[in-house]
Amino acid sequence: MDLTQTLSGRRSCRAYLSTPVPREKLEQVLALASRSASNSNSQPWQVHVVTGPALRRLTEDLLKAYDAGDGGADYDHQPPAGSWPEPFLGRRHELGHRLYSEAMGIARDDMAGRMAHHRRNYEFFGAPVGMVLTVSRSRRQGALVDAGLFLQALMLAARAAGLDTCAQAALSDFAPVLRRNLDIPDDELVVCGLSLGYGDPDHSSTRCRTSRVPVARFTTFHEDGGAYSRE
Ligand SMILES: Cc1cc2nc3c(=O)[nH]c(=O)nc-3n(C[C@H](O)[C@H](O)[C@H](O)COP(=O)(O)O)c2cc1C
Repeated sequence: MDLTQTLSGRRSCRAYLSTPVPREKLEQVLALASRSASNSNSQPWQVHVVTGPALRRLTEDLLKAYDAGDGGADYDHQPPAGSWPEPFLGRRHELGHRLYSEAMGIARDDMAGRMAHHRRNYEFFGAPVGMVLTVSRSRRQGALVDAGLFLQALMLAARAAGLDTCAQAALSDFAPVLRRNLDIPDDELVVCGLSLGYGDPDHSSTRCRTSRVPVARFTTFHEDGGAYSRE
């Protein structure tokens, strides 16, 4: 697969087949992802790969904490509910419409249906592999840039190997549960979770296609002392 195919073929996958992923394949994907650039080559990431009974135990604990509303995050990965500013709020609503209403047929006012799907985050959407990405707090906020690059590389390396993924910030809302289950020390910051496996092509959620704003809306070319204005 070339890069264009890999980049445009990657989509967040929210339903998986139970087909296991061999450890050797996981190690190859992780080795390729580790080619990511990082500030001063500091490679501040740690990855916890969770499968089998360990994944079942983690999922049980996460669901228990989710149902009890007993969470906690290591950093503000998004604004609090109700505080999303535009234009981000509009994009978030558009995703909700495409995923829940159009792809999955869950109506906008069916809050129970939407919550039930959201809850699937804590089962890693049925994926055979769950991952949790952490970075060393000692590398300060810059480590989050490196983590983002690594996460993207990981998702693309997985796609190139025929695997599907979904980055899951929802999991980092339950950092104490992850910390307890995976022995994550306090000096490691829980950045993000990830589900990985072979996507279920027949699940309704796989029909979801997300949009992107055009290049002209997020790019300003500066040339000859002037600037091309945004749209
Ligand atoms: C850092 C990050 C966190 C995310 N967290 C979640 C999540 O908790 N649950 C989820 O279903 N999708 C999550 N996503 C997936 C995004 O919704 C998705 O990337 C976006 O809508 C674009 O769609 P695409 O990945 O299919 O291109 C996350 C993506 C990123 C990059």
